Amino acid sequence: MLKVEETQPVEFSPALKAKFAEISSRYPEGKQKSALLPILHEVQAELGWLSANAMDQVAAWLKIEPIEVYEVASFYSMYFLKPQGKYVLEVCRTGPCCLVGAEKVMAHIEHKLGVKENEVTADGLFSWRGVECLAACGFGPVLQIGPEYTFYENLDEQKVDTLLEELRKK
Ligand code: FES
Repeated sequence: MLKVEETQPVEFSPALKAKFAEISSRYPEGKQKSALLPILHEVQAELGWLSANAMDQVAAWLKIEPIEVYEVASFYSMYFLKPQGKYVLEVCRTGPCCLVGAEKVMAHIEHKLGVKENEVTADGLFSWRGVECLAACGFGPVLQIGPEYTFYENLDEQKVDTLLEELRKK
């Protein structure tokens, strides 16, 4: 995963640019702005996060203003505006999950990884954060890991340890 600083220009791969063209072609002429969300997903999949420079390039590609990209990217929690670990553990922190131990799970993750919310481990493998309801309220505590958004349910400290070990081995 390429790591870049906020101010560094990024270069999109030829494959990513081809993907832009393919995605844009799904929309009628003049409506290419509708391709913004899937294009941002592709950029994030390649770069790991959305830097200002990357978003500016997307804006130029879609012939829209950079602020239109920033607004969308900062609205949806699935877009990362800071560098993240290879695996981002998103733990539901909404009421029903908290009632069955989500805060304990988050505290355990913080302790095991040695990083606070939205920080990245030194090996670049992990970051974690609390998110709102993941719509699996009957199976809490629950976390998801993108980009496939795999769910891990009924979590406790032991299950978190096992999950972290499995991810480290990947
Ligand atoms: Fe956690 Fe809904 S409250 S998934």
